[in-house]
Amino acid sequence: MYIETHAHLTMPEYQDLSEVVARAQAAGIEKIVNASFDLQSSEQSVKLAKQFPGYIYAAVGIHPHDAGNLVLEKIKELASNKEVVAIGETGLDYHYNPQTKEVQQMAFRNFLSLAQELELPIIIHAREAQEDTIRIMKEENKGKLRGVFHCFAGDEQLIEFAKETGFYISFAGMVTFKKAINVRENVVKTPLSMLLLETDCPYLAPEPHRGKRNEPAYLPLIAQKIAELKGISMEKVAEETTQNARTLFKFL
Ligand code: NI
Repeated sequence: MYIETHAHLTMPEYQDLSEVVARAQAAGIEKIVNASFDLQSSEQSVKLAKQFPGYIYAAVGIHPHDAGNLVLEKIKELASNKEVVAIGETGLDYHYNPQTKEVQQMAFRNFLSLAQELELPIIIHAREAQEDTIRIMKEENKGKLRGVFHCFAGDEQLIEFAKETGFYISFAGMVTFKKAINVRENVVKTPLSMLLLETDCPYLAPEPHRGKRNEPAYLPLIAQKIAELKGISMEKVAEETTQNARTLFKFL
């Protein structure tokens, strides 16, 4: 069994949601964490989790744009729902939004603080912003920071930082992309005890579905690649990553 730790099933791509969920179940996905990126998707994620109780759970958060006080209050309110297991995604992305660095950093700080206040793990997206991500996390860590670097695109320094802080590292379908050599090297460098699996669907469909709509049922293709890279069985990857996800999101 697998846990899909990062999907976006509230996107308009999923008009056939019940079939998507049925295929996920048939593929051995035991739970799905649905991540959000703005206020609307956060509200929708909570609704979705209520529609599939015990199967889909929600993460609420804003990324990577403005998160003023009003938005923060609303996210906090949403997080009080029992279906919410994490804050996110949030973080820093200087690739798409280099002009809003300060605003992103402020929002990131607010969410790091909120996650600790609510004692929830945080799902972090860091792209071309590794140094600031580490610096701000160090500054905001009150000793209660837990979470995952999702769709990992960092280097050894961020893997080391994750090790020190007890953060998990999650890989998506990019591990199967021919040119993503760095991503595969990161898989090799990351201990299995820190690894989570995600599809980040509808984006980043793994081979042989690359370029098409992604969905949680493709998660085993990512597990298969990771097993191959680490020279272990798929069962071992499934077992350990599922245990890691249960620990992080407190699925008991
Ligand atoms: Ni995402």
